[in-house]
Amino acid sequence: MRVSQIELKKFRRFSDLKIQGIPQSAKLVVLAGPNGSGKSSLFDSLLLQYRMDAGLGWSQDAKYYDRSDEAEAALKQRIKVATHCGGKLTRGSVYMRTAYRNDPEFTTRSLTQQDNVLDTLHLNRLIDPDATVSKNYQRLASQAMEDVFVKEDSGTTIGDFRDKLIGQIREPLMRLFPDLIFVGVGNPLAEGSFQFDKGVSKGIDYKNLSGGEKAAFDLILDFVVKRTSYPDAIYCIDEPEAHMNTRLQAALLYELVNLLPGDSQLWVASHSIGMMRKARELYYADPASVVFIDFGGKDFDQPVVLNPSKPTRSFWASVLNVALDDLAVLVAPSEVVICEGNPRGTVAGKNAEHDAQIYKKIFGDDFPDTTFISAGNSKEVQSDFVGLATVLPNIASGIKISRLIDLDDHAPDDVADFKSKGINVLSSRHLECYLYDDEVLSELCSWAGHPELAPDLIAIKEKAIEKVVANGFPADDLKKAAGNIYVEAKKLLSLKQVGNDAPAFARQTLANLIKPGMGVYERLKQDVFGR
Ligand SMILES: Nc1ncnc2c1ncn2[C@@H]1O[C@H](COP(=O)(O)OP(=O)(O)O)[C@@H](O)[C@H]1O
Ligand SMILES: [Mg+2]
Repeated sequence: MRVSQIELKKFRRFSDLKIQGIPQSAKLVVLAGPNGSGKSSLFDSLLLQYRMDAGLGWSQDAKYYDRSDEAEAALKQRIKVATHCGGKLTRGSVYMRTAYRNDPEFTTRSLTQQDNVLDTLHLNRLIDPDATVSKNYQRLASQAMEDVFVKEDSGTTIGDFRDKLIGQIREPLMRLFPDLIFVGVGNPLAEGSFQFDKGVSKGIDYKNLSGGEKAAFDLILDFVVKRTSYPDAIYCIDEPEAHMNTRLQAALLYELVNLLPGDSQLWVASHSIGMMRKARELYYADPASVVFIDFGGKDFDQPVVLNPSKPTRSFWASVLNVALDDLAVLVAPSEVVICEGNPRGTVAGKNAEHDAQIYKKIFGDDFPDTTFISAGNSKEVQSDFVGLATVLPNIASGIKISRLIDLDDHAPDDVADFKSKGINVLSSRHLECYLYDDEVLSELCSWAGHPELAPDLIAIKEKAIEKVVANGFPADDLKKAAGNIYVEAKKLLSLKQVGNDAPAFARQTLANLIKPGMGVYERLKQDVFGR
């Protein structure tokens, strides 16, 4: 069963909302948007409509459903859910999981007969607790008894049963956690619990699993146990990502979509990167099968009509903005060069992102899809100390990451070693060697309207280098000479507002002078991009 359109009037977050144009081909519907944007409210409407249509009764929690300042028509008239097959929702056509699913531990001492899943829907609202693991334990264990002793022919053994039902849970779980093997239900009559093998530990209890393992196991278990009762349903999971890391979120979404029975449809409300990434992958593999509905940036106090969003770059930018805040701007580029320089902290230091700012200025026009991020000193860049090289490819698939360090005093063998690890090395000592290259100093003179003074400025540079050498530093340590050159150049060329000190001068003035076609530009480009 698949939804085609939903209309809500004066219902929770929404004054007048219409979601339309969901195609029948949509197997996965992703509700995207920041906290408080109305995703759970929408699920509330689906749940309520289901309870009403399927005769399951519903709570008249007016304080929850009604908008305080407005006179309300009967709840029933304010919700309209239309499906592609038409007609009312019937028992088994909506499966719902709220975001409050925690079931940290349980044990069972007796088995009780379980009611029909479809007759005992315990959820009224999306804020209701929804711990299902222990109930599913009862269900699975008693179903095992029933199957083996009542339904199946006399040749069926517990072993057969284990392979049949438990196998359906074990396989997807192993794809998520390769070392976690679901082995069974223990003894339901004596501290019964789900049992797992993990590495050398055999038969550990459910309560020992990590938060993420429990969360994923719960969702898969519930799907497997319930899907025969919901063979053609609208499956809704609010915040399926809870307790999981990014990789796991993505892998879980894939498993859930695969477990969907028949023509069912999976709705997830999420603002997590992992889920979104997987949804995007599924969309590109089969665009008709995935729909995104963007709740972000809407004023739901006004009438709003939502159509499925095309997942454009700006859609991803806003999704990632919700998930990552400031980090999101790092995601737009297709290539990121991690270079030296103080990283930008919460409070920007004076020279934060010094190198990155200079590279951005120099290569901004020719490489608009590349950004530079300063990630610390040479050692920190080499070791990916802040973790960008590891994290960024997980956030944005297809992004190219490279690292760049200064030559400093590295020997040619070291440089070759760095290159083999994907770390580029400048062919000169540091960035200042390029910024204070004779060619750039000549450009500076022309820019200041005194091209004829170029030889004088170059002589100033030579003098400054002599001083550096006299102090025992190498002749190519332009960083040490920079302060002198800066002071003298200002005097020589009567420069004003070119930066308050040598580093600022480098960023604000010299970097602008290095242009394509100049020898120094080509040399730096080769060093940075290897092309
Ligand atoms: N009955 C109501 N009247 C007015 N506003 C409501 C009502 N119910 C919920 N809201 C508002 O709508 C938002 C609902 O958020 P919710 O649907 O839970 O968002 P999400 O799931 O996207 O985080 C909240 O900010 C809440 O204040
Ligand atoms: Mg919510």
